[in-house]
Amino acid sequence: MPLVTVLPHPELCPQGQAFDVKRGGSLCEALIANGVAIEHACDMVAACATCHVLVRQGGETLAEPDDDENDELDNAWGLEPASRLACCVKLKDGDITIELPKHSRNHARER
Ligand code: FES
Repeated sequence: MPLVTVLPHPELCPQGQAFDVKRGGSLCEALIANGVAIEHACDMVAACATCHVLVRQGGETLAEPDDDENDELDNAWGLEPASRLACCVKLKDGDITIELPKHSRNHARER
């Protein structure tokens, strides 16, 4: 099973975390199931960009983003080449390391 490592984030995952995900599993669902309260305002249908993550290692093991993901990623806060939408990422065989952005697009939570 692929291993997901989450780098520390001051609010969502202060100590960092690592957990296995079954092959084909959704990254967003796996984060939530493991206690990382990532936002998912559109209920994981690639329409809000609040589940934005930065894949710091292992991104090459994932399928390329499809058009829906790319379109919505344009709305993500702090977009960079490593950006993905967690609800669109399905784990394959490789391990990945992700960083949770400091802010999300959900203005209600921005400071
Ligand atoms: S939960 Fe809305 S884009 Fe992923």
